[in-house]
Amino acid sequence: MPAFDLDSFVGRSRAVDLAAIDWADISRHPVPPEALRALRYMQDIESHTIIYLRSLLATRAIDDPEVATFLACWVYEETFHGIAIARFLEAAGAPVGPRPTPRGQESLGKRLEAAATAMVSKAWPDFCAVHMTWGAINELTTLTGYRRLAQVSPHPVLADLLDRIVLDESRHFFFYYRQAEIRMQRRAPARIARILVDRFWAPVGSGVQPDEELRFLATYLFAGPEGRAAARKVDDTIRRLPGFETVQLLEAWMDRHLDAHGSPASGGGRNGDRDH
Ligand SMILES: [Fe+2]
Ligand SMILES: [Fe+2]
Repeated sequence: MPAFDLDSFVGRSRAVDLAAIDWADISRHPVPPEALRALRYMQDIESHTIIYLRSLLATRAIDDPEVATFLACWVYEETFHGIAIARFLEAAGAPVGPRPTPRGQESLGKRLEAAATAMVSKAWPDFCAVHMTWGAINELTTLTGYRRLAQVSPHPVLADLLDRIVLDESRHFFFYYRQAEIRMQRRAPARIARILVDRFWAPVGSGVQPDEELRFLATYLFAGPEGRAAARKVDDTIRRLPGFETVQLLEAWMDRHLDAHGSPASGGGRNGDRDH
């Protein structure tokens, strides 16, 4: 994989171009209710980024100047994804309502990415390797999710918006992945990152969104043969990171949580949050 060019990333970092989207055209094409439900989930996660950042800043995440510079641009871009999706939902007649839970009230388990690793980071200087790996998995899952949404819910304006967002997510993924690859050349960080991912990883939004919504989204985007193939591709890409050759991620999560027809598995199964 080529090197990540931080200067060019910073130079190109900008908000998704809201003026370029044909908002007026949205209501002229039907948006399936499932797409609206998926978008509500995604909008919530995107706008949650700033809350995640609050916890992240209490860790060693910004000790590295390159990571600090990246994060400044990253949070800006993610915030605009949330704004753009909210605007789409509004134009589609399904505006985002008030949040049921005040932000920042999530339990320790529910804020795993930040909270659990924050404890580790105080004692362990290679925290960045975990953070970068976590970021790579989440960005890749997110961008794959957006691509799948465009495939399963064809809509001209949605396709345009998702294309733009996917471009940003790809750049984010590339940064995290390259960083993870470099930092995990050493055995110790690779081992600890793997242990933490094995123990704590759950799909983006776990603990922030209700379990029911997460299972709906996983089914809608990843249950069919094409969805399965996309999920496998995510897993295979992460397996190329040092020490991650046998990691079980998206597909294994789906096997645990959804039955053979893609419906939520009975009995609830293992949950990324209830466990911790
Ligand atoms: Fe995003
Ligand atoms: Fe992203």
